[in-house]
Amino acid sequence: MLDLNGKTAVITGGAGGLGFATALALAREGAKVALWDINGEKAEEKAAVLRANGMTAKGWGLDVTDPSAVREGALQVERELGPVDILDNNAGVHAPGDFLTTSDDEIKRQMDVNINSYYWCTKTFLPGMIARNSGHVIMIASAAGLLGVPGMAVYSSSKHAVVGFAESLRLELRRAGAKGVGMTIVCPSFIDTGMFPDSTPPLFTPWLKPDALADKVVAAVKADRLYVREPGMVKLIPLVKALPRAVGDALCSLTGMDRSLKGPASRKP
Ligand SMILES: NC(=O)c1ccc[n+]([C@@H]2O[C@H](COP(=O)([O-])OP(=O)(O)OC[C@H]3O[C@@H](n4cnc5c(N)ncnc54)[C@H](O)[C@@H]3O)[C@@H](O)[C@H]2O)c1
Repeated sequence: MLDLNGKTAVITGGAGGLGFATALALAREGAKVALWDINGEKAEEKAAVLRANGMTAKGWGLDVTDPSAVREGALQVERELGPVDILDNNAGVHAPGDFLTTSDDEIKRQMDVNINSYYWCTKTFLPGMIARNSGHVIMIASAAGLLGVPGMAVYSSSKHAVVGFAESLRLELRRAGAKGVGMTIVCPSFIDTGMFPDSTPPLFTPWLKPDALADKVVAAVKADRLYVREPGMVKLIPLVKALPRAVGDALCSLTGMDRSLKGPASRKP
């Protein structure tokens, strides 16, 4: 079981729903947390909340899609909080709309935030973890990284890329003998953070609460578990994909998965 006490963690998108909840869960374990967010004011406000509770936290305004800003930010974190042991690649964006109505700039924005930033941050912090043979990378993907969802074509492709990146990188780490560096891939269905305000989660996939999910993420890091798939229905996705296509399509329709981005907001708690 990994002891997080005194470890330094960087959380991208740390001022947002799941990012802040994970920062809080890590800080409760005694980790020093750096909240990186494009909204620097909110990141510093959230860090102040943690400090007011006796935790070590600092917020920075930083655009994680800019590799040189990431490298500069890493130097600042290391100067102020020490070498980074945990990287939580969490920043993410989504915009509603089918693929053909999504502008070129929006496609680039989602790919830049949802996957390219994961490359820049991982490239920046992983060499230090390998050199120390100690550390952990959290990759926040999505259930939409395991299964295509209508109305999420670009978002879902970016999250499939996160899963492919993380699985490949884990095997590269194994091959390099970096046994002390762990990886956790997080694939949640809808989380109650406001990212998908008008959606109606499919049957048997209730809205997830960010704090409860963050606790599961931190438990998985401590136990060096590769996957967090929540709620339980998400674990069945590989089985659904193995079914004949007509049966899989019928199940997606029966559960409302194919209408999850169009349903009435009234089912949201
Ligand atoms: N909300 C959901 O239903 C859901 C489901 C599955 C996965 N996820 C994933 O969980 C992660 C967290 O999402 P959330 O639900 O907490 O949303 P959120 O909008 O509350 O948080 C995302 C944070 O990322 C920050 N951010 C955006 N662009 C950035 C940039 N260029 N540089 C730095 N920070 C940037 C935002 O300012 C925001 O604080 C995302 O990767 C998201 O795709 C969310």
